[in-house]
Amino acid sequence: MEIATLTAIAARYNNQPHCVLQMLRQVQATYSYVPEEAIQFYAKHLDLPISQVRGCVEFYSFLHQAPRGKYDVYFSDSVTDRMAGSLQLAESLAAKLGVKLGEPRADGQVTVSLTSCSGHCEQGPAGLVNGRVFTWMSAERVEKMAALIEASTPVTQWPAEWFEVSDSIRKTNITLDTHIPLGESIKAFLARGPVETLNEVETSGLQGRGGAGFNVGKKWRGAYETPGVHYITCNADEGEPGTFKDRILLNSYADELFEGMTVAGLLVGAETGYLYMRGEYEYMHQQLQDCLQRRREAGVLGENVCGSGKKFDIEIHLGAGAYVCGEQSALLESVEGKRGIPRVRPPSAVKKGLFQQSTVNNNVESFVQAAQVTLKGATWFNSIGDAKSRGTKLLSIAGDCAKPGIYEVPLGTTVQEMLDLCGAENTKAVQCGGPSGTCVGKAEFGRKISYADLATGGSIMVFNEGRDMVEVARQFSHFFAHESCGFCTPCRVGTTLLQHYADKIAKGHGTERDLTELRSLGALVKNYSHCGLGETAPNPLLDTLKNFPEEYQIRLVPVDFVPDFDMNQSVSESRALTGRTDQLHQSHTSVGAEE
Ligand SMILES: Cc1cc2nc3c(=O)[nH]c(=O)nc-3n(C[C@H](O)[C@H](O)[C@H](O)COP(=O)(O)O)c2cc1C
Ligand code: SF4
Repeated sequence: MEIATLTAIAARYNNQPHCVLQMLRQVQATYSYVPEEAIQFYAKHLDLPISQVRGCVEFYSFLHQAPRGKYDVYFSDSVTDRMAGSLQLAESLAAKLGVKLGEPRADGQVTVSLTSCSGHCEQGPAGLVNGRVFTWMSAERVEKMAALIEASTPVTQWPAEWFEVSDSIRKTNITLDTHIPLGESIKAFLARGPVETLNEVETSGLQGRGGAGFNVGKKWRGAYETPGVHYITCNADEGEPGTFKDRILLNSYADELFEGMTVAGLLVGAETGYLYMRGEYEYMHQQLQDCLQRRREAGVLGENVCGSGKKFDIEIHLGAGAYVCGEQSALLESVEGKRGIPRVRPPSAVKKGLFQQSTVNNNVESFVQAAQVTLKGATWFNSIGDAKSRGTKLLSIAGDCAKPGIYEVPLGTTVQEMLDLCGAENTKAVQCGGPSGTCVGKAEFGRKISYADLATGGSIMVFNEGRDMVEVARQFSHFFAHESCGFCTPCRVGTTLLQHYADKIAKGHGTERDLTELRSLGALVKNYSHCGLGETAPNPLLDTLKNFPEEYQIRLVPVDFVPDFDMNQSVSESRALTGRTDQLHQSHTSVGAEE
């Protein structure tokens, strides 16, 4: 390892201490791990506590303290990727290459692991190799991949079609039909002024599209009325399994997103905005940087935005594999170059957010729609939707349906209408809002996608009659146990215990008493966890217990006697699969709640 390389990486980020996570990502990409010397170097060079730098390496899934293989392959382990065969493909690739899942091969050539949802569920099985996303993996492609790895063929020479990602837009409405001419929303804001714009955004009824549904105009007003320095952050973490709608906006509506961030920035008086994008979307990084540069050259970003005399610019920060970093306060910690541990609230981010200053954080879709409202007005937006949830919502639909992809629907659309749109047949259950959301059965298909009923950040997973809902809930319980940040006991211990119970029951060793324990443990984790991750982690098990009790009942043993089930083994198996052996735990608030 060359000190000159580490110095050059730091220089790329102007030696700014808060960019340490970005630097560590570069070190990982260069050396396939983050050597101890690099940790020591950055602590000294950036004048940071060594615990902060080492803490990052331990915390983020895509950073490692020991070398990975020269080819570092991750298969997406979302439930819908599994339904498409991702686990079998990962196991088959590992077997062909003679490597254990999650462990580098002795010669250092390759590592094959699983990762939480990669955000390409409608094109699964998907995954990553050396940070590049692959889609539509198949047995035939796995065969070829093994040969390419054995032959040490550079990834850049692998078949280009393996790395193609499509937008998969199936149905558009006002948002996807509206491209904003360069700078026009900013000019509309400058003409109308901050107070009128706030009124417009507030009366449009636009609620945060990341899931929690807080009124966007109200949040902006809170920051506008808070004195001092301000920041803007955009949440493009999109870690909720089954969600991939922000990917499409980042790919094809980046100007609309940056327009919205700029309007918000000028309005509250911020000079800097951060786009925090999940590491899995790194392949869009350069095109987004190019878009920002074009905007600077066109005078709609930078020193003197649209001749207003005001400065606003945007930086892009990448995540490194941690679902919890989508939680607003964890995201702020991560942008500051720390582990993504959710903060204690209050104060809200609007009062004390990034670098302890007033911060507006919104989801990608929220900024896009806010830019459109600024240009086209509140009525254009709120004449669509239902009485309590205005406008349209982008849904990413995957699973058992003929046409998975992106659907822009008016809020208030029923589950059944959505199933008809995507060509789903013999549907048994729909998971609305990802694992942290709500699982509904047939009897509830008349319910509405809306903040007043079934709130969702966008994830919709469809399961047909042939699916085993206990297995689905079990996989979600593993996801939460893996992604719990470990900060608070109810979630750290509770998600692990929930995972144990799910394994025990799924393997046919559970009893009626385990179900009772599971219910009361679920309630405890929901009620006593520190952040939205723990508050929602028990949902999949509790919902499926309520909606599909017969699927649990047929697995139970009549006596309270468990012959040979080893709970500890089930945990260590799951850690080995995901390559997370470094620490005990290393990916919403209630609707409309102030954050
Ligand atoms: C565990 C967890 C993960 C989250 N992930 C995301 C995410 O990936 N994207 C997002 O916009 N919001 C996510 N949220 C919600 C954010 O905390 C926050 O409500 C949102 O970014 C606010 O933006 P909005 O008001 O525009 O929706 C997550 C919340 C929790 C608890
Ligand atoms: S609830 Fe879970 S993810 Fe949230 S702070 Fe506690 S341990 Fe971390």
